[in-house]
Parts: sequence; structure tokens; C-alpha cells
Amino acid sequence: MNMVIVNGNVVLDDTVEQVDILVEEGLIKAIQPEIDISEYSSQIRIIDASGCIVFPGFIDAHTHYGLGEGDEATADDFFSGSLAAVFGGVTTFIDFSDQIKGMTLLEGAEQRIKEASDSVIDFALHQCVYWMHDRIPIEMDELCKAGVRVIKLFTTYKQFGCYFDPKDWPQLFMNCNEREMLITMHAEDDVVIEQLSGKYASEEDRLFPAFHALIRPAAAEYRAIIEAGQTAIEMNTPLYIVHVSSAMGLQAIRELRDAGAEIYAETTPHYLFLDESYLTGDDGALFTMTPPLRRVEDNRALLKALADGEIGIVATDHCSYTRKQKNMALDCRDIPSGVSGSEEASSLIYSFTVANSLIDLLRMKDLLSMNPAQVFGLYPGKGSLHIGTDADITIFSQEKRTVITAEIMHSRSDYTPYEGFSICGAPVITIARGSVVMENGTFCGQKGRGSFIPCKVSSLYKKRI
Ligand code: URP
Ligand code: ZN
Ligand code: ZN
Repeated sequence: MNMVIVNGNVVLDDTVEQVDILVEEGLIKAIQPEIDISEYSSQIRIIDASGCIVFPGFIDAHTHYGLGEGDEATADDFFSGSLAAVFGGVTTFIDFSDQIKGMTLLEGAEQRIKEASDSVIDFALHQCVYWMHDRIPIEMDELCKAGVRVIKLFTTYKQFGCYFDPKDWPQLFMNCNEREMLITMHAEDDVVIEQLSGKYASEEDRLFPAFHALIRPAAAEYRAIIEAGQTAIEMNTPLYIVHVSSAMGLQAIRELRDAGAEIYAETTPHYLFLDESYLTGDDGALFTMTPPLRRVEDNRALLKALADGEIGIVATDHCSYTRKQKNMALDCRDIPSGVSGSEEASSLIYSFTVANSLIDLLRMKDLLSMNPAQVFGLYPGKGSLHIGTDADITIFSQEKRTVITAEIMHSRSDYTPYEGFSICGAPVITIARGSVVMENGTFCGQKGRGSFIPCKVSSLYKKRI
């Protein structure tokens, strides 16, 4: 349906203005003060956004919906994960495709796109690479043509077969550079983790979720970022570090930037708003993810980095499990790793950074919409409010005071790590390609309406021209 959004405070690229937005056939057709709707048929819907902020739809650039199989599968599949996301004002998410034995990278990505076909909003994909072989460059060419332009590497997770051998980094970095594909990295030094794992390996230690944090210290993040960043400098490639969790991680990024590296940093709500104290007590297992939760000082350093511009994107790493799944393991290293976040993120960011004047609305728009769109090649179609772009719009109320509880969340996980957090703002209407998909707490979207969106070259490459 065509619509006009009136009376909202609209977050444009550089200003917040009271303008109206006309949406026709899924696209933004006009942005101007007082659009005269008398010339339109009665088919047009008027949405009164008085007292609300109108954002470009949020992009969750790091999700794991529909991960794994059977008992190990995440609580959320692509339908429930994307449905939870629209309650958080998300209109596009970016998930991951595995490198699968016996398949080309493109075949793996195509399979993942099919798996994601139940999504209620648009999505893009990043491609994981776990091992190198002679045909990788050709397979990368095929991926680029299909619009998958990000390669994700892991410096850890040997037990899952995800560890990518650093001896192959220079070649892969060069292959990425030649194709202007962005390298993203999960950075935790595996040697440190293995060593510490052996050191603290008594059966009793392993029972405790806090042990998981003990063997994955911030120093491991620091080392892995430095090593990857040095390769990026040598191969003259930009590098994107996912889920930066610590002050030491930030320090590594600063040192590399000083040495001339183009390093981009992402963090997640759990590293901003939760700390290691959550790992103690009976529910500790519910708060395990990789890297683990850190100290309050780390939360503060990351929050400051959001404001200073050192961190450019907040994504969620949404990877939800049920209480039962989280509490099943006898060794904390076997707890399925990850927590939810797609629905909670925008309310948390607004309530604990914008509402206390740490950042402003324009910065919130950059962190949640515009930067992910530009860095991952979805811009200008997504991530900003411009004439001609997709009408992906989040209407956000600054009046909505609520307490986050699992009962009111929409993930299939039966808990939220933010239980009891008081928030003072939340999305009230989410519009995806011109269609209202969430309104005042009711889902009104459709399973399968989301489409795969091919990505273009990352802005991090364009910056170098
Ligand atoms: O614990 C996490 N973060 N699980 C998801 C996989 C990853 O490393 O991002
Ligand atoms: Zn990761
Ligand atoms: Zn992840």
C-alpha cells in the first residue's frame, strides 16, 4: 500500500528534520515538508508519526539465524529470527554462508539463500572460508557476480572446522584485494586459548561458565587483531573486525590504525551492556558467547568508542538458544555459543547511549543503518532515507518505557540476556520495502517476503580511490 508518513522527526543523512515521506510501490518517492496528499487516491495510508523519530530501517549486519541442526540448532530459524528483528526495527539482516565440502562457495551460498527463503525482511550474505584450495579465486569471482562480496575468516573454532590457517592469509587477502571483497575476521588467538584451556582443565573448573571467559581473555583478542591487521597492512587490504569485545581489542585497532591499516570495528549490545559478573551464578551458562563477556571497564571503553567514532557499526551476532540447550553441557566449552539481540539492540542503544546524550540520533542512524549499508555494499538502496531508495523505515517512539522480559520478546529462545533492563524508547512501526511489517507490537508481515539482496563493493574499498 502507498503511504505518507507525517509529523515525524526524520533522521536524514546530516540533519534531523520534520518532513513528510511519501512511499509508493515500495520506494521513497518524496521527502519534503507537508506533502499534499489531496492529489492521491483514497488508497493512500497516512501514518502519523507525531512525537516519534523516523529512522532509515536498521540493518543487523551480523546474525546467525537457522544455524546448525537437531539439538544443536539455534532456537531461531530464518522466519522467527527475522520476525524478532522487525520488532527491533530491523529491515535488513546479513547472515553467513558456510564453506561446505563438495560444493563451490557459490553453491553453498545458493543453498543458504534457499534456507533463508522464509525470511520476512530482505537479507544479504557473508561467505565464510575455512580452508584454501586452488579454485578459491575462481569461486570468489562467482560469488562477486552473485552479490556476495564479504569473506569471513575465523582465527579459532578448530573443533567446528572453522579455523582458517593464518599461513594462507596473505594469499586470501590478496585474492580479496584483487576483487575488492571485504575481509571480516572473528579475532581470538587460538594458541592462547588452547594453552589456557590446558592450564585450567580440571573437571571442576570446566563446569563453570566463567571458565569459558578465563580461557578466552582479552589478550587473545588483542593478539589476533594485531596479527590479522599486520597482514592487512602488508597486503594493502581493508579489514573488518567483528564483535570487538574489549578495551585491549580497541587498543590493537588503534595501534594498527597508527601504523596505517584500514581497520573497521563492529561491536554488539552484549559487549556494551553486559559484563562478566553475569557468568557467575546459576544462570551463568545463559550468558556465554564467543568472545566472552568482559569487565565493566571494557563496556565503558566500547561505549566511548561508539561516541568517538572508533567503532562504526553495532550489529547483534544474534545466535539464540533455549535455556535447556544452554544448560545441558557438562564442560562449559560445549555450551552452544551465543545470545539473542536483534530485537533488543535498537532499544538498548537508544536508552543507554542516545537518551543519556552519549551519542545523538544521527550517530545512532550511522551505527545501525547507514554504516552497515555502506560498508557492506547495500547503499544507497538500503541504510538512508533518500528519494528512490527502498522504503525501509523504522518509526521509533521515545515515549515507550518498558522493561525487557522474555515474555514480550519474539525470539524462540525462552530467555533474553537483557531481562529486567528498563528501556525508554522502542520501534513502534517497521516498514520493509513499503509494507508495514510490525505495528504497535503486532506482526503484520509475511513469511517469505524478504529477498536476497546482492551486495556491491564495500565503501572501505571506495575510500581508497
Ligand atoms: O558466540 C557466538 N558469537 N556465536 C556465534 C558465532 C560467532 O563467533 O560469531
Ligand atoms: Zn564470531
Ligand atoms: Zn557471529
